[in-house]
Amino acid sequence: MKFFIDTANLNDIAEAQALGVLDGVTTNPSLMAKEGITGAENILAHYQKICDLVEGDVSAEVISTDFEGMVKEGEALAALHPQIVVKLPLIADGIKACKYFSDKGIRTNVTLVFSVGQALLAAKAGATYVSPFIGRLDDISTDGLNLISEIRLIYDNYGFETEILAASVRHTMHIIDCAKLGSDVMTGPLSAIKGLLRHPLTDSGLAKFLEDYKKGNQ
Ligand code: E4P
Repeated sequence: MKFFIDTANLNDIAEAQALGVLDGVTTNPSLMAKEGITGAENILAHYQKICDLVEGDVSAEVISTDFEGMVKEGEALAALHPQIVVKLPLIADGIKACKYFSDKGIRTNVTLVFSVGQALLAAKAGATYVSPFIGRLDDISTDGLNLISEIRLIYDNYGFETEILAASVRHTMHIIDCAKLGSDVMTGPLSAIKGLLRHPLTDSGLAKFLEDYKKGNQ
């Protein structure tokens, strides 16, 4: 399973990259705003900085909600850097734009996916990635992980090449569960990724190894 980090924070991206397990980055307009990145030029410059920091795919989301606007924005984003993947919302014009970009060989991430029907449409339109938001489904007492397994089943039934990118991952167990269910990618915060490191037996075992080494090497 590929690991993407879901942030526009350059320090977090650099820390995950330094760990050596990062395969890409996802952003969205809220995450950019959280970092205080505003204005078209600054936003493009920030995407460039992210691409300079990491080697993998960087999802950059369009703001337009009409086909023409999405195509214009998406083409400008894709031209910025070969690592950019154009992120499109799952609405009718987003699906049309996805098909347009797919026919042109421009990679896409269809976002704001909350049902298997939406995921089926994104795959039919040739999306590179589909982003089901598991955390936001959990927030409304719906089983987010179940959506991942249903999409997996349908994509496998028909051999769709669209990769399932489990999004809105909130914590470490989400990552483990997504891996069990065969998600191709997960995107989550640095804290969820770093949570995978932790085990008290690792800490106590290491402390004992170091203590015993010291005793024998004084
Ligand atoms: C996906 O690409 C989104 O950026 C993201 O995962 C949304 O997560 P949230 O529900 O924690 O805002």
